[in-house]
Amino acid sequence: MESLKLLITVTFPNYLRNLPIPDTLAGFGDLTGSDVLRIVPLVGALAAAVYLVVSAMKGKKDDQPKPPKVNFNCLDKDKDKIVDSFDVEDLGNKTCFCRCWRSKKFPYCDGSHNKHNEACCDNVGPLIIQKKEEKTS
Ligand code: FES
Repeated sequence: MESLKLLITVTFPNYLRNLPIPDTLAGFGDLTGSDVLRIVPLVGALAAAVYLVVSAMKGKKDDQPKPPKVNFNCLDKDKDKIVDSFDVEDLGNKTCFCRCWRSKKFPYCDGSHNKHNEACCDNVGPLIIQKKEEKTS
């Protein structure tokens, strides 16, 4: 413990005090090779400290829990993105599309959202597309 105390209270302050730090940025160009070699350990230690802090912060960010998947039923996982396209003329008078991702007939609603809403106190429902004259109040 005594040697650590000596390192912190005497050796390191003496090292810093004797560093050939120039007064201006242009002064770095006047440093000799041995001056540069005396500065290298400090620059290396500072770079390592910055690297460790940045790595720790990045690691913390990566540890954040991910939001839950929307497609937890793993529908069409072989696709990069699930996109459904319909011709409006083919939809008939009324079509209900699932927005809860729980339907066994996805992309159509099969009423599974009701069970989900009860279990999770949620309020998700389908997207209903219907002709104007077929609209219910
Ligand atoms: S089953 Fe998903 S919205 Fe109805």
